Amino acid sequence: MSGGQVKSYSVRTFGCQMNVHDSERISGLLEDAGYVAATDGADADLVVFNTCAIRENADNKLYGNLSHLAPVKSARPGMQIAVGGCLAQKDKDVVLRKAPWVDVVFGTHNIGSLPALLDRARHNEQAQVEILDSLETFPSTLPARRDSAYSGWVSVSVGCNNTCTFCIVPSLRGKEVDRRPGDVLAEVRALVDQGVLEVTLLGQNVNAYGMSFADPDTPRNRGAFAELLRACGDIEGLERVRFTSPHPAEFTDDVIEAMAQTPNICPQLHMPLQSGSDRVLKAMRRSYRKKKFLGILDRVREAMPHAAITTDIIVGFPGETEEDFLETLDVVEKARFSSAFTFQYSARPGTPAATMDDQVPPEVVTERYQRLIALQERICLDENTRLIGSDVELLVVADEGRKNSATGRMTGRARDGRLVHFAAGDRTDIRPGDVVTSTITGAAPHHLVADAGVASVRRTRAGDAHEAGTLPTTAPVGVGLGMPTIGAAPIEPATSGCGTGGCS
Ligand code: SAH
Ligand code: SF4
Ligand code: F3S
Repeated sequence: MSGGQVKSYSVRTFGCQMNVHDSERISGLLEDAGYVAATDGADADLVVFNTCAIRENADNKLYGNLSHLAPVKSARPGMQIAVGGCLAQKDKDVVLRKAPWVDVVFGTHNIGSLPALLDRARHNEQAQVEILDSLETFPSTLPARRDSAYSGWVSVSVGCNNTCTFCIVPSLRGKEVDRRPGDVLAEVRALVDQGVLEVTLLGQNVNAYGMSFADPDTPRNRGAFAELLRACGDIEGLERVRFTSPHPAEFTDDVIEAMAQTPNICPQLHMPLQSGSDRVLKAMRRSYRKKKFLGILDRVREAMPHAAITTDIIVGFPGETEEDFLETLDVVEKARFSSAFTFQYSARPGTPAATMDDQVPPEVVTERYQRLIALQERICLDENTRLIGSDVELLVVADEGRKNSATGRMTGRARDGRLVHFAAGDRTDIRPGDVVTSTITGAAPHHLVADAGVASVRRTRAGDAHEAGTLPTTAPVGVGLGMPTIGAAPIEPATSGCGTGGCS
């Protein structure tokens, strides 16, 4: 870094888990380049926005936030602002047109270029925009500053080869590129060696894992995801494995079997429904149908009776009729989701659905949305209430892990992913990252309560690390993509066509 004195940074993350993990890479890169994390609440010398473009309100949010920072920047000479992630990839130089005080705009394919772009912007006293069309460096080959001592994200793939007609992700994240299983497992092991107990495997469509390896020497393998889950089962010290997101069209029984037969795979599944109407699913280009979806849930529950299944649902897709919507409510009633992420359809530029006839009027969307939420809230409460009296193992979490002084409770996550507030009693030695057991005594739609007292407390290495304030570090794992790291500063794509190593 030029300038001599140490600069502080802060990364503000929007969007999905992939972005949360990318932000860990962004932080890792910045720390390698000499920046230090800004202390809570302090103004940072560098603010990085890692953005999302999945729905329209994400756009408004970013430009609102940037406006708030404009006066802060004018009062703080030398401060820099960088905008990366999906919305940057979508808006490119529009970001600078709308917020000319931004210093660097970088995309989803070149986060490794950020430190160099910041230096260049400072040196040239000119904003830098670099958006590439295809992946430059697999983010997992970049350094990371992990957020948690006990729980870690590990990417299995980036990008998505599906063409859901509502979705902007493939145009922003590119074609799917899969990591070699050995690289994924090496990263998992590196985390576990440092005390991490829980790992979440990440990909836009984990069930397609194995069909698009970046490494030409790794053969395509339809069973690769199930094999990866089973291999995680052999990692000593790894207590909890989760993954997101699977896709109902490609969710095969070998994955269900691997989940059921591998003790450290958590009894939790996120299975995005989107709509319960076959007609709407077809228009969405989601190739499963209502019957197949419900069949998957039956088989999952047969193999894992206590699995908590969550979902994503879109209300008001173009052409959705009241009858279609009732089909969605019917699936929701039958599926007994433990929770659902519900979204009002938002037209995204460049997606086929955005120009479809019959866009549903906003007041109809809102009314349906409220009915869906009311139904799902009732189901959440019913399902949670059924758990009263059952024993749970909780991994104590940090954000709410501190004892709540009013209730005396701490918070942990059960193996099935549910949030549980538990009475810690006089146990003052419990730390985030430790594992406790207790019994459920109360239920609300979005959490459970365990006031019976803790039956056992297991102090873990993750708890020690959290208490000491140390975070796991992972050396860059894996092969690069054979791409040059940084070239000129193009607004136009610097690479075209293939280049990800996934095709010939
Ligand atoms: N790859 C994941 C989804 C990633 S996007 C999958 O296939 O499940 C996360 C969720 O955002 C989607 O599941 C969908 O429910 C929602 N979403 C995506 N595009 C949307 C849009 N245009 N309007 C409303 N919700 C949308
Ligand atoms: Fe989007 Fe569909 Fe790919 Fe998910 S599977 S990221 S919804 S295109
Ligand atoms: Fe948003 Fe990009 Fe994720 S659009 S949901 S941050 S892949």
